[in-house]
Amino acid sequence: MRSLDLRSDTVTRPTPEMRAAMAAAEVGDDVLERDPTMAVLEARVADLLGLEAAIWVPSGCMGNLIGLMLHLGRGDRFLAPAQAHVLGSELGTGAWLAGGMPEALAWEGGPGRPTPAQVTRAAGSPGPYYTLRSRLLCLENTHNFAGGTVTPAAEHRALVAAAKAAGLAVHLDGARLWHAATALGCALADLTAGVDTVQVCLSKGLGAPMGSLLCGSAPAMTEARRLRKMLGGGVRQGGVVAAAGLVALDHLPRLGEDHAKIQRLAEGLRSFGLAAPVPETNILLVPVPNASEALVALEAVGVRVLPVGPAIRFIAHRDLTAEDIEVALRRIEPLASHLRSA
Ligand SMILES: Cc1ncc(COP(=O)(O)O)c(C=O)c1O
Repeated sequence: MRSLDLRSDTVTRPTPEMRAAMAAAEVGDDVLERDPTMAVLEARVADLLGLEAAIWVPSGCMGNLIGLMLHLGRGDRFLAPAQAHVLGSELGTGAWLAGGMPEALAWEGGPGRPTPAQVTRAAGSPGPYYTLRSRLLCLENTHNFAGGTVTPAAEHRALVAAAKAAGLAVHLDGARLWHAATALGCALADLTAGVDTVQVCLSKGLGAPMGSLLCGSAPAMTEARRLRKMLGGGVRQGGVVAAAGLVALDHLPRLGEDHAKIQRLAEGLRSFGLAAPVPETNILLVPVPNASEALVALEAVGVRVLPVGPAIRFIAHRDLTAEDIEVALRRIEPLASHLRSA
């Protein structure tokens, strides 16, 4: 029985086209000078996102960390929506490496989304010398642990405006910004308006084996290059993996197919009596009474998922076909009453 892996959109394998591009990539030493293929990828992504410059980093975590390090120092506070990846899933590096004191904003604007008024309130006004200084708002679009939820462009602009009015810089964790733009039918640049830095992942949904881009102003990216080296992320012939990233970008117009797959899965699960919401992008969180038991039961029938709090998380991706979703539903159906009550 072939296992159907819905744990994440990071489980995809590089396509033959990516492997061919990797084999043929023009390369140089990116620490000594520039790797030409990395430079092409950086320019292409900066352009797509409407920012001046970009640098390739090996992972989304490193992209976010460099973003935070650019904006924060010791004694500074940063705000982020509750359950943001930078708060709970990056081993606290925003605090112990970037030096910021994190503050989680409850989802008063909807799942995964704080409101501009919350930003204003939480930023506060400068206090005496011994108080924390609010320096940064870190947004996440789509918000992974809220279930791949989308912040629309107008709401994004209002959040940025509130942050700027309070003197905060803005970093956007856009690991799945592609999915947000696809769901909204807008340009990627509409969702980066006003940000100082943004991080996007080529390894989530697009199928690249590795690589993220941090984007911002040219001077910020010059400084980011130093920070990347400091963290051990300066690579030599990185064009080999950047070439796969360039091919991965060609998949952008097809991301909507993954949204359709997860919507079909949600619809099927609802027909079995499970409390599956209508997914906004490619992520579906289904609350169950016992997530760890549900995980084991699903694994036994060849459906792999991950727990997120009291829910199980399904993520659709390019290595699963529409037919795979039907197979998953057929495998899950006999377990439905167990999943509802376990
Ligand atoms: C929203 C978000 N940000 C950042 C990351 C980190 O990416 P990476 O695993 O490449 O470090 C992830 C990973 O799943 C994520 O979901």
